[in-house]
Amino acid sequence: MALWVRSAVRALRLWGRGGEPTWARRHRIVGGGTPTACSAGVSSAFGNGGAGKEEKLCLRDIAELIGAQARQRVVVMAGAGISTASGIPDFRSPESGFYSTLQHWDVPYPEAIFELSFFLDNPRPFFTWAKNMFPGNFKPNVIHYFLRLLHDRGLLQRLYTQNIDGLERASGIPGSKLVEAHGSFASATCTACGKPSPEQDFWAAVMADRVPRCAACAGLVKPDVVFFGEALPERFFLHLVDFPTAELLLILGTSLKVEPFASLSEAVRSSVPRVFMNRKAVESLRPRSRDVVQLGDLVDSVERLVELLGWTEEMRDLVQRETSKLSRPDR
Ligand code: OAD
Ligand code: ZN
Repeated sequence: MALWVRSAVRALRLWGRGGEPTWARRHRIVGGGTPTACSAGVSSAFGNGGAGKEEKLCLRDIAELIGAQARQRVVVMAGAGISTASGIPDFRSPESGFYSTLQHWDVPYPEAIFELSFFLDNPRPFFTWAKNMFPGNFKPNVIHYFLRLLHDRGLLQRLYTQNIDGLERASGIPGSKLVEAHGSFASATCTACGKPSPEQDFWAAVMADRVPRCAACAGLVKPDVVFFGEALPERFFLHLVDFPTAELLLILGTSLKVEPFASLSEAVRSSVPRVFMNRKAVESLRPRSRDVVQLGDLVDSVERLVELLGWTEEMRDLVQRETSKLSRPDR
C-alpha cells in the first residue's frame, strides 16, 4: 500500500480558492463563538444507526458520547494542523503552508521534496527542511495533550497520524496507541544497501548541513519517513481492526489530500459519528448525516470540547506537568 496524493493538479488549483465548498453548507458547521445548543442527546448519539432518523449531532452530543464511553473506542486521524500551534507550518495552507514557501527552492513542484526519485537525485532540499525537525525543536501543544488525556482516561483506541514531528509520542502517548502512518525521524536507513543508520549519525550530518551517508557503503541515508510512492508501515494495517470497531472518529487538522490515509475517514461504520475539526472545510470528506464539522482554529475547538467534557482543570494540570518535564535541562 503506497502513498500518493489524491490529485496533485487539483491540489494545486485548490490553493488559490477562497470560500467554503458547497457541501460544507450542508453539514452542521460550527465555527467560532460558543457551541450551538443541540437536542439529540447522548442516547441518540449512540449506535441507533440513525435508523430512519435525521437528527443532527453537535459538539455537545460528542462530549456526552465521549463522557459515556466505557471502552477504548475513540479513533483519531490527525494531520499537520494539530502541530501548527507548536510552531510547525502545515503543508498546504495557502500562505503559511510549507509548500507555499518553496518557490525559491530547487524543486520542480512542491511535493517533489517528498518523492524518492527526486530525493535520490537531489537530497539537499529535503535535508534543509529536515534540519528544522530536529527532535526537541518543538513541543506538544494543547491538542496533543487532549489526545493524551483521551488515552489516560482509557478511551483512545488508536491515533493515526500523518505527522512525522513525533509530538504525539512526546506528549506521552505510548507507541502501542499510535500509528505513524507516514513514518518518522526516529530511524534512518541507507537507500543503497538497506542498513539501518544510527539516529545520532544521521542528525549529526543533517545539523552540520552534510548529506548523511552510510558508514558501510557511502550510500545516501534517508530517515524512515514515508515518501510518495513508498509503502506505509505495517502498523497501518491495524486500520482493518480499528476502524470497523470504532464508536467515534475524530479527524483533526488535515486536508485529507493524501492517500491511502484520507480514505480511512470512510472506513468507520455509517452509524458512527465523525467529528471533523479543521480551519477549513475540505471537499474530500464525503458528508454523512452523523458528521459534526467544527471549523476554526483547532486550539479553540479542542478547548471548547474539553470544556464541554468538564476536563479543563485536568487538562491544565497535565499540560503544566508535562511542559515542565519537557523543559528540564536534561531533556
Ligand atoms: P495539510 O497541510 O495538507 O493540511 C493541514 C490542514 O490543517 C489544512 O486544511 C489547514 O487548514 C488545517 N490547519 C492548519 N493549522 C490549523 C489550526 N491551527 N487550526 C485548524 N486547522 C488548521 O497537511 P496534512 O493533511 O497533514 O506527507 O498533509 C498530509 C501529508 O501531505 C503530509 O503527511 C505530508 C504532506 O505531503 C509527507 O510528509 C509524506
Ligand atoms: Zn549502505
